[in-house]
Amino acid sequence: MATTPALPTRALGSGPRVSALGLGCMGMSALYGEADRAESIATIHAALDAGITLLDTGDFYGMGHNELLINEALSTAPAGARDRAVLSVKFGALRDPDNGWGGYDGRPAAVKNFAAYSLGRLGADHIDIYRIARVDPDVPIEETVGAIAELVQAGYVRHVGLSEVGAATIRRAASVAPISDLQIEYGLISRGIEAEILPTVRELGIGVTAYGVLSRGLISGHFTADRELAPGDFRAMSPRFQGDNLRHNLALVESLRKIAEQKDASVAQIAIAWVLSRGADIVPLVGARRRDRLAEALGALEVTLDADDLAAIERAVPAGSAAGERYPATQMEHLDSER
Ligand SMILES: NC(=O)c1ccc[n+]([C@@H]2O[C@H](COP(=O)([O-])OP(=O)(O)OC[C@H]3O[C@@H](n4cnc5c(N)ncnc54)[C@H](OP(=O)(O)O)[C@@H]3O)[C@@H](O)[C@H]2O)c1
Repeated sequence: MATTPALPTRALGSGPRVSALGLGCMGMSALYGEADRAESIATIHAALDAGITLLDTGDFYGMGHNELLINEALSTAPAGARDRAVLSVKFGALRDPDNGWGGYDGRPAAVKNFAAYSLGRLGADHIDIYRIARVDPDVPIEETVGAIAELVQAGYVRHVGLSEVGAATIRRAASVAPISDLQIEYGLISRGIEAEILPTVRELGIGVTAYGVLSRGLISGHFTADRELAPGDFRAMSPRFQGDNLRHNLALVESLRKIAEQKDASVAQIAIAWVLSRGADIVPLVGARRRDRLAEALGALEVTLDADDLAAIERAVPAGSAAGERYPATQMEHLDSER
């Protein structure tokens, strides 16, 4: 009988204990160009097989495509995998048929409506962690979190999460309901949370699910300046991937590559291992959408970084050394975490 290998686990605040790496499924449906459906499902199966339990999605990733994909992957996975999976779902983003963005809806009635659709698409009787992707500026966070707390009471959601919010909003949300984790960008070239947000979640006993650990592939060691991006690829609009910014940022990657070679690891593994080293309350979400990328990411769990390694990494990629903001200006405006 096949057995599931034990991966290290980490606790998400008041929420569940999950694998030390989570799988972010967004790129399988949206934002990074075409993905291969069969390979996406095989990647989710391989992740579950390797012992990954945390799967992250959003109802707006491909307008339901990502949730339906996860449903298919779970229902075709070996018995037990569905029970082990911890589903983290974001909601609230408003889209249009041209793939445009139309703000966020955090009204309590909308929260319950979003949840009902997600449960249907996921084919699940509950969502493990539910969070609004960005704060709705017209709805106090207490009301949005209160609506999720009611879904917890009703058994449709297990835990309340947050996404891309700053310290003041974290405190307000935590006054309404226990919060499992804050999902936020954190990586070698995205260290903004270290000043105020990380100390705040630590004070309140809230975990972190870190995304953009590879800065959307930019610091994976695989991205090249001549890579052609499909229309609609987020990176075609991301300031960090443009012109001089891209050249500067890829030079940082080359500095990191020297350290990776000394450690007999890949650049991506060093970048993921660095986030893992920042605290047992942080779970990196890796955006692998192919089995080879997943295998590489899992290899980061084998990389040990000692004090000398960490100092060398800091010298190669000092805090704040990236060129360009992490989102285009119109999307930065929606980040409560950047206020
Ligand atoms: N809360 C939020 O606001 C928010 C925002 C964005 C994302 N997220 C979540 O976080 C997850 C991860 O974010 P992300 O995809 O931007 O992060 P990421 O892991 O920084 O970037 C993923 C990209 O890196 C490339 N890559 C190269 N080597 C890789 C490797 N070994 N393992 C994984 N990826 C590798 C992949 O490109 P190729 O496929 O071309 O190889 C992929 O497109 C998402 O799937 C989503 O669930 C949340």
